[in-house]
Amino acid sequence: PQHLIGLHDMPAARMTALLERAQYFAEGHDARQALAGIAICTLFFEPSTRTRLSFQLAAQRLGADVLNFDASTSSTSKGETALDTLRTIEAMGVRGFVVRHKEDGAVAALAAAAAPGTAVVNAGDGRSAHPTQGLLDMLTLRQAKGPDFSGLKVLVVGDVKHSRVARSDLHALRALGAGEIRVCGPRALLPDDGTLAGCAVSGDLDAALAGVDAVMMLRLQRERMEDGLVDSLEDYHRDYGLTVARLARAAPDAIVMHPGPMNRGVEITDEVADGPQSRVLRQVGNGVAVRMAVLEALLGAR
Ligand code: CP
Repeated sequence: PQHLIGLHDMPAARMTALLERAQYFAEGHDARQALAGIAICTLFFEPSTRTRLSFQLAAQRLGADVLNFDASTSSTSKGETALDTLRTIEAMGVRGFVVRHKEDGAVAALAAAAAPGTAVVNAGDGRSAHPTQGLLDMLTLRQAKGPDFSGLKVLVVGDVKHSRVARSDLHALRALGAGEIRVCGPRALLPDDGTLAGCAVSGDLDAALAGVDAVMMLRLQRERMEDGLVDSLEDYHRDYGLTVARLARAAPDAIVMHPGPMNRGVEITDEVADGPQSRVLRQVGNGVAVRMAVLEALLGAR
């Protein structure tokens, strides 16, 4: 495929091949010339720390020329559309675009309008998809638990409704054959659009944690939320915050993941976020490796 928009249509074999290549990069190998002479632009219409910087580093490690577009300091502020922006940068010879946008489907629309030789990677659109986050989460799980997911119990907790990360994680977990996928959160933050198909859904975090091998916490996305969905942050923390005491209900070697940025003291306590079971910073490091694998697959050997 020319683009990476989501994981919903990615065959398991392709996902596994990308994860194996990412593992090779995570072990310190490189491919310094893979994208030599190719220009890539990170085109972000929403804020980012991890995704943007790790894509930049990934592209540099593959030998690409990297441009960084920041909507807030660009001609977008004069009314230029996202499509005109893409076409303008394409006209400079850029062939890879890493795009984040607040609207569902905006990245797919740009990909559909891009020139035939251009590759577009979704770096997060609206609530829809964040495919490289899904892949880096699967790499983190594989490193901790091995490549066979069939015996794994994985729990996703929190604001699934507004989470593109959760949607991509759930697609990936299903594709890779996770043994049991549990989802827990307040009813108002659980989607009823088919996202949770095949998942065991619960509103009781203490029960949902019992015996799980991995806990994937989600950020409470207050910027995407209508008023009233959550009573108060204190109530949310009481019912859905991951504490050391709660985590003790999971398997003893369970890992804790969070895509970041974290609301410390809301969905996760400092003790858990910084504790021995946390893989939060491993996830960040894996982001570089996964993004190297994705950029190489889409833009290498042309
Ligand atoms: N996980 C994630 O997408 O983080 P950023 O918003 O910082 O890129």
